[in-house]
Amino acid sequence: MTASIVLTGIKPTGTPHLGNLVGAIKPALALAESAAKSLYFVADYHALTAIHDAAKLRACVREVAATWLALGLDPERVIFYRQSDVPEIFELSWILSCFTSKGLMNRAHAYKAAVDKNREGGVEDLDAGVSMGLFGYPVLMAADILLFRTNVVPVGKDQVQHVEIARDIAQRFNTIYGPVLSLPEARISKDTAVVPGLDGRKMSKSYDNIVPLFLPPEKLKKLLFKFKTDSTAPSEPKDPDASPLFHLYREFSSAPETEALRQRFLTGIGWGEAKEAVFTVLDRALTEPRRRYAELIADPAKIDALLTEGAVRARALAVPMLNEVRQAIGAR
Ligand code: ADP
Ligand code: TRP
Repeated sequence: MTASIVLTGIKPTGTPHLGNLVGAIKPALALAESAAKSLYFVADYHALTAIHDAAKLRACVREVAATWLALGLDPERVIFYRQSDVPEIFELSWILSCFTSKGLMNRAHAYKAAVDKNREGGVEDLDAGVSMGLFGYPVLMAADILLFRTNVVPVGKDQVQHVEIARDIAQRFNTIYGPVLSLPEARISKDTAVVPGLDGRKMSKSYDNIVPLFLPPEKLKKLLFKFKTDSTAPSEPKDPDASPLFHLYREFSSAPETEALRQRFLTGIGWGEAKEAVFTVLDRALTEPRRRYAELIADPAKIDALLTEGAVRARALAVPMLNEVRQAIGAR
């Protein structure tokens, strides 16, 4: 889709890994190229539902911002900001919460997961450990999205429900006040299979099977050699499409390189050789970002300044939109 407004939020939690790069960062940066306008932001107030440590939150925000910048986010092209620097979001969040039925929130997956966990653990109060922030998480996300007349929201599968909730809330609002809010649509990049982790399950912080993005080359290589493989002999033919290593290779190599490795799989490749091949293309792709990341993270003031500038641009869009909403509801 051209001439669209693309927006996504990045939760600052934990060390960014290869799964994030392939599943979220690369597709979002590609989408920004073709969008009329793109807004990417660090969702620090969403992270506040889980991180209650000031130094940690600050560090996580910088880490994730530096990651996206190092991997090619161009802050001239993409409006890149920290959520907490745009107060209009939180005002809209309150307004939207008045158009969101509690029942809709009861069905949101993060809340349901917390309740299920309590139930399974035999905890009597099923809401134990659930803050209002966690419960209302999807409303804040709807405000993030609707404040900027977003059309397209690139997200992982787990966030699709939240984008649909934003749509529902917007529809509800528009039914009463007319077409004030734009209806957003989630976009999952379809050809990105789930990136497998070292143990073969989905790569995820929660599984402790990640390959962090900015390891020094020796460490990266060592980690890649820990990838779980089966015991087929080196000379036996192997199915490239069934191999996580091959999928990873493909993400970071040219078409002829991919084809060449495919042939090696079909004629028989040792797992050591396959791992070495993955390391070579991965290290090539990450050399420059690694350097830029180190440079940025050593200069937190620069990251903060970039985000602050981004927030100024974001607010230039947010203020008139919020005024429209206020006008519509009779607040002014
Ligand atoms: P984690 O599972 O490590 O906690 P997050 O939930 O923070 O990762 O994911 C952030 C983004 O990266 C989401 O858009 C998610 O879909 C994407 N992502 C995370 N892990 C993978 C993976 N293994 N393969 C593809 N995409 C992933
Ligand atoms: N909830 C998203 C996540 O956990 C992050 C997020 C916050 C977001 N606000 C958003 C994503 C708005 C897309 C649009 O990954």
